[in-house]
Order: sequence, then C-alpha cells, then structure tokens
Amino acid sequence: MDQNWEDLEKECKRCTKCDLFKLRTNVVFGQGNYKSEILFVGEGPGENEDLQGKPFVGRSGKLLDEMLKKINLSRDKNFYIANIVKCRPPQNRDPSPQEQEICIDWLRWQVRLMKPKIIVALGRIAAMRIIDSNIRITIDHGKFIIKKGIWMMATLHPAAILRNMTKKSDSEEDFLKLDTKIKEIGIKI
Ligand code: URA
Ligand code: SF4
Repeated sequence: MDQNWEDLEKECKRCTKCDLFKLRTNVVFGQGNYKSEILFVGEGPGENEDLQGKPFVGRSGKLLDEMLKKINLSRDKNFYIANIVKCRPPQNRDPSPQEQEICIDWLRWQVRLMKPKIIVALGRIAAMRIIDSNIRITIDHGKFIIKKGIWMMATLHPAAILRNMTKKSDSEEDFLKLDTKIKEIGIKI
C-alpha cells in the first residue's frame, strides 16, 4: 500500500463519485488522531459539519465529546471520528444504500491505514453498514463483536439521545463497556 493519510484526505476532498458532491460546501473526511486505535463512525455530515468540514461539530458532537470525556477520551488525542458518507445528504435525509456503497470505500481506506483495534458505530445506519445489516440498535447497543480482528460495538446516535434524554444512561453504560474493552485489550490512552 503506497497511500498515506494526507494523500487519501486530499483525494477524498476532490471526490465526485456520487451526486452528494453537488450540494456540499465541504467534504467531511474525518477528525482526530488517526494514529490512535479507536475509530468512531457516524452516518453522514449535517449542516454544521458541511459548513465547517468537520464531523460532529453541532449539538450531537458536543454531547458525544462530553460523554467520552467521562472515560478520558478526547478527539484530538485518543480517537478518530468519521462518517459512512463524507458529503451531507440534503435535508439530513439518510444516505441512500447506493451513496453508502460508493462512499464507504473511503472509510475502508481509512480503516486500512489506521488499523483500529476498536470501531464504535454511532447510530443505526452506521451499525447496519459496518456491523450487521440486521442489527437492532435498541437491543444490540453496547455489545462487542469481533470482526476481521477488530472489536466493534454499536451505540445510540447522540442525536437520538438529544431527542430523548432518558436514553442518555444507555449511552453512558455503552461507553463504560468501551472503557472496559480498551483496558482489557491494552490500548494505550
Ligand atoms: N451526525 C453524524 O452522523 N455525523 C456527523 O458528522 C454529524 C452528525
Ligand atoms: Fe464522494 Fe462520498 Fe462525497 Fe459521494 S459522498 S461525492 S462518494 S466523498
């Protein structure tokens, strides 16, 4: 493999492989420490993300960062965060299966270069795409499975928690399980 992270990012930022490129302000490649061993994957950029070119920068992102801080994880040090699709779907609709299929190659490259030990899917769309197409997020969140040597867990999307704050404790429990897994497999934080 001859590609490095910076080249991949540059190439991705010029991508026109699906129609989502037409309406975007910015490609949202991802943010954080790609040399870390933990990767979070969301669904796709929203309005703020499109405007700033960074993932999870709106209210959902603030909530996520706040919850992760409790297990001593911070975006710039201990994890990387990206999305299944890198350009914003109009009106924040779900990215179509075709858009996901086309765009996910970028994420595959990110995974190949980063070699994470843990991937956390944020919300149903990401969980179905990267963990199991039959996953039931309300039941299966917080459960780790190992796939191609990578530990994977789905948790609720922070936007779902903002819509119903009673779900926050479910997320917090998932993140405690994540903390346990990090220690169990010896990831240096
Ligand atoms: N929701 C997502 O799934 N991804 C983002 O980057 C922002 C909000
Ligand atoms: Fe390319 Fe993905 Fe953007 Fe479509 S969503 S244009 S595949 S980067």
